[in-house]
Amino acid sequence: MKLIKKGAEADIYQITWNNNNAIFKIRKIKNYRNSLLDSKIRKQRTLKESQILSQVKSFGIPTPLVYFVNLKKSLIIMQEIPGKPVNDLSESKIVELSKEIGKLVGLLHKNGVMHGDLTTSNFILFQNTVYVIDFGLSQNSIKPEDHAVDLRLIKEILNSAHAKIMEPAWKNFLIGYKSIVGNANYVKITKLVLDIESRGRYAAVV
Ligand SMILES: Nc1ncnc2c1ncn2[C@@H]1O[C@H](COP(=O)(O)OP(=O)(O)O)[C@@H](O)[C@H]1O
Ligand SMILES: [Mg+2]
Repeated sequence: MKLIKKGAEADIYQITWNNNNAIFKIRKIKNYRNSLLDSKIRKQRTLKESQILSQVKSFGIPTPLVYFVNLKKSLIIMQEIPGKPVNDLSESKIVELSKEIGKLVGLLHKNGVMHGDLTTSNFILFQNTVYVIDFGLSQNSIKPEDHAVDLRLIKEILNSAHAKIMEPAWKNFLIGYKSIVGNANYVKITKLVLDIESRGRYAAVV
């Protein structure tokens, strides 16, 4: 078992599963949380992640196959996508892929799924296909307000982690998003994004 990423929430290992490379994701105990609450949260996120990884496949979102789940150990074993996380790609590639990412987020929202943690490290490019991962904070929601929260987060990530390309990347994201959700939803949700920003918890991002 080889540790490949130590995340804030989970450790990610590469293992072999039926002779294939696979990812072993285990959510770690957080000692600062009450232990009963902590095990409940870890269990709930593991369940959500495994359910939604499979659910969204039905409407065409590329995701890793789930091979095995142990809720008690808050563990998921899934297919390894042997590509590169989008945040590790070149700036021009990120700008180009932003449109596809916008489409994928649009498709999630159109089907009533909020991702909950839209960062560029949660998209993996493999053989010209963008895969979506890390659904532990996702929810079934058709509320425009929830969809706006998703957009605000990815906008913020583009602005902070990819500042130099923020403008063309965000523009492409919105083109892709709008092409899937349609103009009326697009107008409604982007207006809510501006509302969130103007509430002052976040500075407006141009
Ligand atoms: N199925 C997978 N295939 C390939 N890489 C993965 C897979 N799942 C996770 N990773 C890698 O591990 C990192 C962290 O996994 P992630 O599920 O996003 O956990 P975290 O909650 O810590 O962000 C990802 O950004 C990616 O680089
Ligand atoms: Mg992640």
